[in-house]
Amino acid sequence: MNVIRVTGGKPLAGRVKISGAKNAALAVLAGSVLGRGESVIENVPRIRDVEIMLEILRSLGAEVSWQEPNAVKVRVPDEVHCCTPYLLARKLRASNLLLGSLLGRRGRAEISLPGGCAIGSRPMDLHLKGLQALGFAACLEHGYIKGQARSPQGNHIYLDFPSVGATENIMMAASVVPGVTTIENAAKEPEIVDLANYLNAMGARIRGAGTDLIKIEGVPSLRGTRYAVIPDRIEAGTFMVAACITGGEVLIENVIPKHVQPVVAKLREAGARIEEKGDTVHVTAPSRILPVDIKTLPYPGFPTDMQSQLMAMLSLAEGTSVIVENVFENRLQVADELKRMGARIKVEGHIAVVEGVPELYGTCVKSTDLRAGAALILAGLAARGVTEVGCAHHIYRGYENIIEKFRGLGAEMEAAGEASEETEDLAGK
Ligand code: UD1
Repeated sequence: MNVIRVTGGKPLAGRVKISGAKNAALAVLAGSVLGRGESVIENVPRIRDVEIMLEILRSLGAEVSWQEPNAVKVRVPDEVHCCTPYLLARKLRASNLLLGSLLGRRGRAEISLPGGCAIGSRPMDLHLKGLQALGFAACLEHGYIKGQARSPQGNHIYLDFPSVGATENIMMAASVVPGVTTIENAAKEPEIVDLANYLNAMGARIRGAGTDLIKIEGVPSLRGTRYAVIPDRIEAGTFMVAACITGGEVLIENVIPKHVQPVVAKLREAGARIEEKGDTVHVTAPSRILPVDIKTLPYPGFPTDMQSQLMAMLSLAEGTSVIVENVFENRLQVADELKRMGARIKVEGHIAVVEGVPELYGTCVKSTDLRAGAALILAGLAARGVTEVGCAHHIYRGYENIIEKFRGLGAEMEAAGEASEETEDLAGK
């Protein structure tokens, strides 16, 4: 069913429980390759990207099974294969995280390039630079990244940009490389801290994750362990915006409030009332949405993964907002779909000027990537009439039980339409 049909106009009310973080779960699952014996990973969302990662792990020879309700058991054999299959890996950007873990475990890796991506070019130069500094020969060849241990040794690595994926790949490989590795200008995202915590629980010695200087003392090997991934801050942010855009009031449960601070700050500027208590965030919509300016930046800056959802909300603000997308070059493309619904948005390079309109109206639109899809659902919830969001497979990649969760808050939403060939396209992220 590749369309999600939304009938707008109902203020959302009630409580919703946030699932485990997609990006943390994918990194931890990639990291599980480093563990001898068995790992049980808890709080894993049952989403398409995770299913693809599990398929890739199986294709490498790992025994993988779901344990109810959201735990995955992984056992990776000593002779795990080193080559990710093209047809699977191209569907999932995060398959590139197997580069660091396979190099660490086997000293060899062939990772099929994840392919073109809707939100930007997404090079791997920083990953390769870091792994080369650790003594791995790593290069791009015929659509594959090929890596081979030469004489691995800890080193000092400076990242030109705090790339999430590069920090994760380097951290995984360096965990089992002799000597001390330091990563300067490392990414500070909560998912980095989560991966470091998992690796440390497996016996790694990583300090400083969550700051821009990470220090890793290599150990001979890691062992499987039991670990629960953090809640998904982007899913939480998406439901926070849903409360605001529909004029509703929602209690969001199973959140780490610190992780959603950049979003909380912007929603408060837009007039929302937000109370944090324990692991919950209570959001009351503003009576009118005020315009706000947004610049996406690496954590703790405003997350690029929430930019599209905010654009949908600001389309209904009383005034003009400016959005600057600094992380991915093609990530303002959802503007064209929002315009079909009556939004007034001008995009110039990486800047969008959003002039708020009094109302949006339902029509047929198409997700171009995961977060664009979420933004269109949010716009549909606020719009007059029925919105059909096509290419819904993008949305299922990253949101667990999204329709059920929105329905639980009183939304009118259903899966509709034909299964589509488009599920094979390449927007994995
Ligand atoms: C991860 C997240 C994604 C999020 C992004 C930024 C996963 C699976 N995905 O993606 O949801 O939007 O972080 O928070 O965790 N870059 C280079 N060279 C490199 C690597 C990256 O120039 O070798 C650039 C990219 O083109 C991009 C920027 O760095 O402009 C950020 O990319 P990065 O932080 O690496 O994002 P991902 O790890 O791919």
